Parts: sequence; structure tokens; C-alpha cells
Amino acid sequence: MNRPWATPVLWLSATLCCCTLAFSAGQRPLPAVDPGEKLLNAACASCHDLRPIETSALDSDGWTKIVNSMMGKGAEIKKDDVPVLVKYLTKAYGPLPDGPGKTILLNICTQCHTLDRIKTRGSTRGEWDELLMHMLNEGAPLSEEDYPVLLTYLARNFQP
Ligand code: HEC
Ligand code: HEC
Repeated sequence: MNRPWATPVLWLSATLCCCTLAFSAGQRPLPAVDPGEKLLNAACASCHDLRPIETSALDSDGWTKIVNSMMGKGAEIKKDDVPVLVKYLTKAYGPLPDGPGKTILLNICTQCHTLDRIKTRGSTRGEWDELLMHMLNEGAPLSEEDYPVLLTYLARNFQP
């Protein structure tokens, strides 16, 4: 039987499945859900998904401004809960060193998992190179043009 659509569909399910696994493995190292994370899921995912949050890397002041601005738009969150949420946002989506690779990291490398294991990993350039090849094999849509920029950014900022 000729089913030209079968391959892309299978490929897509495999990719999604992979992402879900990586996501749950990377995202939930603790048995108890952080109260800030609960607030995030309850108050921040109704108008948009979490993408704008995952692609921001801000300090506590930056997140406070964002949360206030979202409350202005209609986000429902109690005043007393704001510090808890801001603390969680700063921990999970904290600032990153500036540099040409930062946007690539935020846009590409947050698609399947958080940046935790990247930020806590000190590696040589060679090891980062190997890791990026590994991520390409996992399906990371990292372009040929962006590859060396990101490699230099990682090797410079996250050294052994
Ligand atoms: C009532 C709807 C609504 C809720 C709830 C909401 N947002 Fe937003 N958010 C928006 C809109 C609309 C934009 C696009 C803003 C723009 O383009 O000016 C946005 C954009 C953003 C951005 C991108 C940066 C920016 O300022 O444009 C971030 C980050 C963000 N939201 C975080 C959050 C967080 C954190 C929460 C939970 C506290 C949240 N949002 C809840 C409506 C909402
Ligand atoms: C298409 C999904 C996907 C994207 C996009 C992605 N990764 Fe991954 N990543 C994975 C999977 C799946 C694992 C777990 C595989 C493993 O542990 O071998 C993982 C694990 C990791 C780890 C932990 C590996 C270890 O040995 O501890 C790091 C670090 C990492 N990714 C970095 C990155 C970087 C940097 C990018 C951006 C170029 C990126 N990832 C983009 C799927 C992805």
C-alpha cells in the first residue's frame, strides 16, 4: 500500500514523544511542584502559552515588571502571591550572559526542555560541540549559520 504521509506522521509522533520525555525528565527533578510553578500554570497560561516566558531570561526586577504588566492586562494573581511567582520565574527563567548566541539559545534550546542542564554544565568547547551534534540528532532545529555562534557563546560562558 502506498501511503506517502505515513513517514512524516510517524516522524512527528516520535519527535513529540521525545520532547515530552525530555520535558518531564528535565523539568521536574523535584517530587513536589514548586508553589511558584503552580501559580505560573494557573495565572500565566490562559492568554498565551508559556513560550514568551521560556524565551525570556530576566532577573527579579525584570520579572516583577512583567508580572505587573500582565496583571494590568488582566492576569489574575493575588498581590501576596506575586513574590512567590517572581521567585520561581527568576529561578527557572533567570538572566543569561549577553552575547550573540543568547537569542539562539532562548529560541532553539528551550523547545524541548528547560535551560537548567545547560546553565549548570561546565564544558570545554569540544564537549559543547559534541553536545550540539547530539541535539541536532535529537531534532533541534539549529541552522548551520547559528551553530558556530551558539557554540562560541556556550564555550565562552559555560566553561569547566
Ligand atoms: C489577560 C491575558 C494575559 C495573561 C493572563 C498573561 N499574559 Fe502575558 N501577555 C499578554 C499579551 C496580550 C502579551 C503580548 C503583549 C504585547 O504584545 O504587548 C503578553 C506577553 C507576555 C510576555 C512577552 C513580553 C512582553 O511584555 O510582551 C511575557 C514574558 C509574558 N506575557 C509573561 C506573562 C506572565 C509571567 C504571566 C502570568 C503572571 C502572563 N504573561 C499572563 C496577555 C496575558
Ligand atoms: C528536539 C528536541 C530538543 C531540542 C530542540 C534541544 N534538545 Fe537538548 N535534549 C533533548 C533530549 C531528548 C535530551 C535528553 C537526551 C539525553 O539525555 O541524552 C536533551 C538533553 C540535553 C542536555 C543534557 C545532556 C546531558 O548529557 O546531560 C543538554 C545540556 C541539552 N540537551 C542542551 C541543548 C541545547 C544547548 C540545545 C539547543 C541547541 C538543545 N538542547 C535543544 C532534546 C532537545
